Amino acid sequence: MASDHDRLRDLKAFDDTKAGVKGLVDAGVTAVPSIFRHPPESLLLDACPPHHHQQHFTIPVIDLAAGDRAGLVAQVKAAAKTVGFFQVVNHGVPEPAMSDMLACVRRFHESPAEAKAPYYSRDPGRRVRYQSNFDLFQSPAASWRDTLFMETAPAPEEIPPECRTIAPEYERLVRELGRALLQLLSEALGLDPRFLEQECLDGDGLTVAGHYYPACPEPRLTMGTTRHSDPSFLTVLLQDAVGGLQVLVDRLDEDGNKQTAAWVDVPAVPGALVVNVGDYLQLVSNDRFKSVEHRVVASGVGPRVSVACFLRTDTSTKVLTPMVTGGHGEARYKSTTVAELVKHYRAKGLDGTSSLQHLRV
Ligand code: OGA
Ligand code: NI
Repeated sequence: MASDHDRLRDLKAFDDTKAGVKGLVDAGVTAVPSIFRHPPESLLLDACPPHHHQQHFTIPVIDLAAGDRAGLVAQVKAAAKTVGFFQVVNHGVPEPAMSDMLACVRRFHESPAEAKAPYYSRDPGRRVRYQSNFDLFQSPAASWRDTLFMETAPAPEEIPPECRTIAPEYERLVRELGRALLQLLSEALGLDPRFLEQECLDGDGLTVAGHYYPACPEPRLTMGTTRHSDPSFLTVLLQDAVGGLQVLVDRLDEDGNKQTAAWVDVPAVPGALVVNVGDYLQLVSNDRFKSVEHRVVASGVGPRVSVACFLRTDTSTKVLTPMVTGGHGEARYKSTTVAELVKHYRAKGLDGTSSLQHLRV
């Protein structure tokens, strides 16, 4: 095992290349460098069920254009209360906007290292940041992934040229979908349809993460993204056809009792967007909606490209308080601000623990 000192030196050397994992792959690495090696116990290979277990559960696919309103609310409610994940089709984001968005993120990551380097930054004050592993210096092991972050409507000249015209339009479409989903979720809570939108979004807060997962020479030694739940109210994820996203689902025995948890694939469904409940909505809904852990496994096939849009308020001083109306008992969390939650998330990194744990009462 490398000493802490050696590890820090290697992390810094990797970060200083400003070329990410893509840079390593371009340089022809045939082995996963030690900073990316996860201890076997955290890879949880043993928690990976044999494939026959997976057939017992599939992430629901909801057609937003089918059926009546009540039926739609019921489907969204059932998913948000249990697995916390669902896919949507007929969601109003046209296919060309989706494929253009994936393509522009891919073009950025595949542009020359010199062109990307000026965007490489860990300064949270910069609205556009390219980096490999936001938690490189916090997490126990690095992951096989690079990301282009764009936070709430950067000025056009701040956006890399590959994404300058496409990203703002895609964001607009996702915001619209986000509002529609929050209306369904508000109704699922028996509230005014505008409640969550007004209570949570309070403006245009949206962080876009354009992920790039290069093919990995030794995929069983590392991860694409380690297990985590999302720092958002809702996340709308666009993934390409490669696959690798998995959700930790509680398995029930025949009597409906919770048995063990198992990783279940979120398959790539053409034209669909993946939606999941984030930590802020779990807090505000006082655990009625679940922010569920998920991860991306590394793969010998790639690159894989995905675009995660985190819906969260841009008003970081906004206080989030659990709703205890409607006979739902005591608040299960202390109130907090989005700024505090973001700070905690960044300082903690993806270490496999819940980022709401410290707020539980
Ligand atoms: C995330 C995330 C999954 C993916 O960005 O929080 O879970 O498929 N991404 O890239
Ligand atoms: Ni996530």
